[in-house]
Amino acid sequence: MRLFIDTGSVAEVEEIAQWGILSGATTNPSLLAKEDGDPGDIIRRICDLVNGPVSAEVVAKEPAGMVAEGRALRALHEQICVKVPFSAAGLAATAELTADGHPVNMTLVFSANQALLAAEAGATYISCFMGRLDDISVSSTEVVSEIVDVMRTSEATSEVLAASIRHPAHCVIAASLGCEVATVPGKVLKQMLDHPLTSKGIELFEKDWQSRPEFGEWLSGLVASHQVPA
Ligand code: E4P
Repeated sequence: MRLFIDTGSVAEVEEIAQWGILSGATTNPSLLAKEDGDPGDIIRRICDLVNGPVSAEVVAKEPAGMVAEGRALRALHEQICVKVPFSAAGLAATAELTADGHPVNMTLVFSANQALLAAEAGATYISCFMGRLDDISVSSTEVVSEIVDVMRTSEATSEVLAASIRHPAHCVIAASLGCEVATVPGKVLKQMLDHPLTSKGIELFEKDWQSRPEFGEWLSGLVASHQVPA
């Protein structure tokens, strides 16, 4: 499963892109509304930081407006994927945008039926919101599992993108159910780093190595002899 970062913060993308684990990013109007600065600049900077698709969302209500916004957003950067909220109008806009070759991330999908419609409209990604389902006591595991199943059996080409990820367990569930992508907030990506045994293990390796100072000198010498001239 590929990982996208779900954010409107350039600083957060700058930090986490350095880990080498990001395949893309998703933004939404709420995430961008928290940030200072021009949304176009933010989206372009995020594109430059992640080597992959970056979703930017339309807000128009009618298909023509959605398509016009989608085309304009696509012109911001070649990596832009147009994010379209699920609705009848959103399906029509998705069909038109994808027919013109624009990738679309159909968002706010909460059921297998909605996913089937999104796939038929040609969506490249179908964003299924896990956290918001759990918030209303609907099992996100069951819904995502059903969505992945219907995508496979209908041989749809759309990729299932697990969204509204609230904690690391959501990522593991999404991956084990067969989602192609999860878009994850920076805070949760950082939680995924942590394990007390890892920190303890690193501490112990360091202590043991330092107990043999000559080993440290040997490694420094080894590194120096392998320096590639600039
Ligand atoms: C997906 O692309 C959305 O931006 C996001 O995952 C929504 O998550 P939330 O429910 O935490 O707002």
